[in-house]
Amino acid sequence: MSEDQQLRVSKITEGTVIDHVTGGQALNVLAILGIDGSGGEEVSIGMNVPSERLGRKDVVKVEGRELSQDEVDVLSLIAPAATINIVRDYDVVEKHRVERPGEVVGVLQCPNRNCITTKDEPVDSRFAVLDEGVRCAYCDTIIRESIADHIHVD
Ligand code: CTP
Ligand code: ZN
Repeated sequence: MSEDQQLRVSKITEGTVIDHVTGGQALNVLAILGIDGSGGEEVSIGMNVPSERLGRKDVVKVEGRELSQDEVDVLSLIAPAATINIVRDYDVVEKHRVERPGEVVGVLQCPNRNCITTKDEPVDSRFAVLDEGVRCAYCDTIIRESIADHIHVD
């Protein structure tokens, strides 16, 4: 196939390309980044596009935005093979594989309504990353499945 036939999502000028995302997880990636379109962000998404490494993958391209380490840490839980590409002036200037962190801070919400982190206290959520899920550092509640459903939305 020629380059022209292969190109599905336009290149970006400046920003972040999250590539090799587990197929079907692109919308959860946007949720982690707090992007729902209402902020006017310029975003392109490819879903379930063919990939040599993964079979099928999603790609999320965000113009004019870099990711925080906390966002990347949560991303690694739902898209463990993702690569984060920083683009400046059309060129990829940095490329990193995500790494599974020891803990994730801020981005997930504890499902326990009595947890201090879900009250009106200025306490960031904090979860230890386990093999089988994540555990709240404050109340020990464990989230085992559908971690993306616990992404904090303001
Ligand atoms: N990309 C983009 N806009 C740019 C530059 C790159 O959208 N201005 C995208 C590419 O389409 C690709 C990703 O960023 O999805 C990584 O680009 P690059 O490193 O050039 O591609 P590969 O070498 O194929 O990456 P990898 O080896 O990580 O698969
Ligand atoms: Zn808790």
